[in-house]
Amino acid sequence: MSSRFLSTSSKVIQTLMKAVRVEAFGGPQVLQVKEVPIPKPVDTQVLLKIKSVGVNPVETYIRAGAYANKPSLPFTPGKDCAGVIESVGSEVTQVKPGDRVFTGKAITGAYAEYAIVDASDVYNLSSSLTFQQGAALAVPYLTAYRGLFHKGGAKPGQTVLVHGASGGVGIAAVQLAKIHGLTVIGTAGTDKGTECVKRAGADYVFNHREADYLKKIVEVTGGVGPNLVFENAAHINLGKDLEILAPAGRVVVVGSRGPIEVNPRDTMRNESSVVGVMLFRATKDELAESHAAIQAGMKAGWLQPIVGKEFPLAEAAAAHEDIINGQGAIGKLVLNV
Ligand SMILES: NC(=O)c1ccc[n+]([C@@H]2O[C@H](COP(=O)([O-])OP(=O)(O)OC[C@H]3O[C@@H](n4cnc5c(N)ncnc54)[C@H](OP(=O)(O)O)[C@@H]3O)[C@@H](O)[C@H]2O)c1
Repeated sequence: MSSRFLSTSSKVIQTLMKAVRVEAFGGPQVLQVKEVPIPKPVDTQVLLKIKSVGVNPVETYIRAGAYANKPSLPFTPGKDCAGVIESVGSEVTQVKPGDRVFTGKAITGAYAEYAIVDASDVYNLSSSLTFQQGAALAVPYLTAYRGLFHKGGAKPGQTVLVHGASGGVGIAAVQLAKIHGLTVIGTAGTDKGTECVKRAGADYVFNHREADYLKKIVEVTGGVGPNLVFENAAHINLGKDLEILAPAGRVVVVGSRGPIEVNPRDTMRNESSVVGVMLFRATKDELAESHAAIQAGMKAGWLQPIVGKEFPLAEAAAAHEDIINGQGAIGKLVLNV
């Protein structure tokens, strides 16, 4: 028997777990699997046995030490995961061991076999979704809801361009916009990506690596342009977005990996606006509303995260390499535990 287990007269108790640890900021290779003690939930906390982890681009910036809010070293990355509740603290009444849940707030880090989460931050995972789909729910769908409705003011009957629709957040934005009565135009950079965006329900899909795709987007809007652009790559597209927007249109900046030069006159011509989105700025009420939409979508069946590449936990470094430098997103990238 390994040192990971304690034997008592009646049962065997696991005491150690595998977790990805970052001991120094750096490239993907700093993601190393180690054995660490399984944390214990106290008071309002639960211990989650993780089945699948959602990898988000921000975790690569944090790992590299390039993010404003750096955790203290060493740490286990990740917040998004889905699994089964293993045990609960003394004050927990709303969930119980055995419940299938997802979270976007793993306190001790999601790239691990177990994580501590506050009971108020775990949400029911419908039995119709896999754990991999559950790992694709929190950050992607909450960000998409915030970008479309809280910051973008999306309304039924309007047209939204989801610029970069093939990744975790983009697929979520396509599904949320479609069910709320918008006409959805999505883009992706590969054939597999465009196929995936069609499967998510977009009305029109274009390849953002083709020379004249923006012209085609304006054409399918009858020459008017989209009312809203949900922008996942503002460092490449913001200037062009301002040129194609409909009058009084809005760009919500969801993702941007660097600076870009834009012509401010393009905002004057159509009285258009640019607004940033930052999920952690959402209020408690806004988060409750977004989670209600996720639960309603799971129940009704329209909310169907598309899972793309899957890596084992031990290959977290390859997953980080892929999400930044891969050849094209095909849905959410997850780690299986
Ligand atoms: N603001 C917030 O609170 C918040 C929260 C979560 C995520 N984010 C950010 O949102 C972005 C998307 O996150 P994610 O998890 O969906 O990442 P992801 O799964 O890696 O997807 C990235 C998306 O960007 C697309 N893209 C690449 N080049 C593009 C181009 N030239 N024009 C348009 N789109 C392009 C990709 O398309 P192809 O691969 O098909 O080319 C893919 O659809 C990231 O920058 C992330 O950091 C922000």
